[in-house]
Amino acid sequence: MQTESDTIESIEAVRARDRSHLWHTWTPLTVDRSELMLHHGAGYRVWDADGKEYIDGTSSALSAVCGYAHPEVTAAIARQLGRLHHFDLSRGSNEPAGLLAERLASYLPPDLSRTLFVNSGSEGFDAAMLIATSYWSHLGMSRSRMVTFALGYHGSTLLSRGLSALPRVAHPFRAPLPVTRVELPVAPREARAPAALPLLLDAFDRAIGDDPADLPAAVVVEPFLNVGGGIVLPPGFLSGLRERCDAAGILLVLDEVFTAYGRSGRMFACQREDVEPDILITSKGLTSGYVPLAAVTVQQRIYESFGRDPVIGGIRYGHTNSGHAVGCAAALATLDVLERDNLVAHADYFGDRLRTRLAPLANTEEVADVRGLGLAVIVEMTSAEKAQQVLDRAQERGLLLRRQGPQGHCVLIAPPLTIDIEGVDLIVARLEQALADVAG
Ligand SMILES: Cc1ncc(COP(=O)(O)O)c(C=O)c1O
Repeated sequence: MQTESDTIESIEAVRARDRSHLWHTWTPLTVDRSELMLHHGAGYRVWDADGKEYIDGTSSALSAVCGYAHPEVTAAIARQLGRLHHFDLSRGSNEPAGLLAERLASYLPPDLSRTLFVNSGSEGFDAAMLIATSYWSHLGMSRSRMVTFALGYHGSTLLSRGLSALPRVAHPFRAPLPVTRVELPVAPREARAPAALPLLLDAFDRAIGDDPADLPAAVVVEPFLNVGGGIVLPPGFLSGLRERCDAAGILLVLDEVFTAYGRSGRMFACQREDVEPDILITSKGLTSGYVPLAAVTVQQRIYESFGRDPVIGGIRYGHTNSGHAVGCAAALATLDVLERDNLVAHADYFGDRLRTRLAPLANTEEVADVRGLGLAVIVEMTSAEKAQQVLDRAQERGLLLRRQGPQGHCVLIAPPLTIDIEGVDLIVARLEQALADVAG
């Protein structure tokens, strides 16, 4: 294997180093991630250290909306690196950060116009919680309770994981904020049906409550519960939540870390229902995952309320690399590619095509359901064991997939938005073969 220093190393030496020193995220110690040692990628394909080719149905960390080694994104990164890698936004500014904040505002309704940059979805979520609770204290009210889905996933920091009831994020310090968690009132595969809408909204009504002394600071949801099991919410859900938040006078925070930048078949999933959140958190696709970056975009009135902060008259929050110039340059190039290549509509079309092709697999002994939103397609297996077997067999056949859901029984297919007809055909063929292997 060719390494950075151009020495030739055996793949086993590379793996041995990995096994000895690298701590793999979200991984049981008994599982050896060094087996899938990726070396390079191009478009929606990646190659491992042995030269084996895969279709990447995982977009790296569900982020590579433009695929791998995109020449324009990599050139923009190199240009910015050679000019100015970063300048701290708490001391001055850098041009790409302002350009990107303006660009995000151009996609959103006029009041949703102010963006704070951080480095990950989890940090974006933490910042959103600080902003929401601070907003109420700037108005002279003490509100900190959050209403959210029990199956929601908002990140791995102590604050963000504290909102979720997913077993994988359980932690002794898991409730820094008071939380009312809404259980799904129907089975995950029934949640997308119009009949689920009143049940879901009733559950949120009960969670919001009507005690003026105990109103929540915000309702906080993902428009598609990805880690929670690929749960598609019924049409009208987000607009119903918006109406309820307006009626109760509370904030609506949308976590679009996964769904934004085309994944949902729209630039932002909330645009499917013309819903305007008070706070919008985005990440992953923003830079296509080439450089860590997340954005927290808020309504102008929320931003202005920070003038009343008693200590500095502004937000007391930020990171060394908030608004990193290279990250912002990568994001601007990613957005150029999304727009020029019409990748948002492309994702909508190919997501539909993939779901239509896979739909006949549902209601068998192995597959309970096929569903999804945009270019995020979920194959719900009848057990976690079968889901793992499908992942393993698909990988052998050259297709990388992910497992999702509280029991890990859902298989997620979320390739780069640059996928084409040939790529969709290969995904379908390799998945069908993997399923046949598992059934056979
Ligand atoms: C909806 C959602 N929110 C937040 C996060 C956390 O983002 P990060 O892993 O960048 O911290 C994720 C990551 O998967 C996510 O899907």
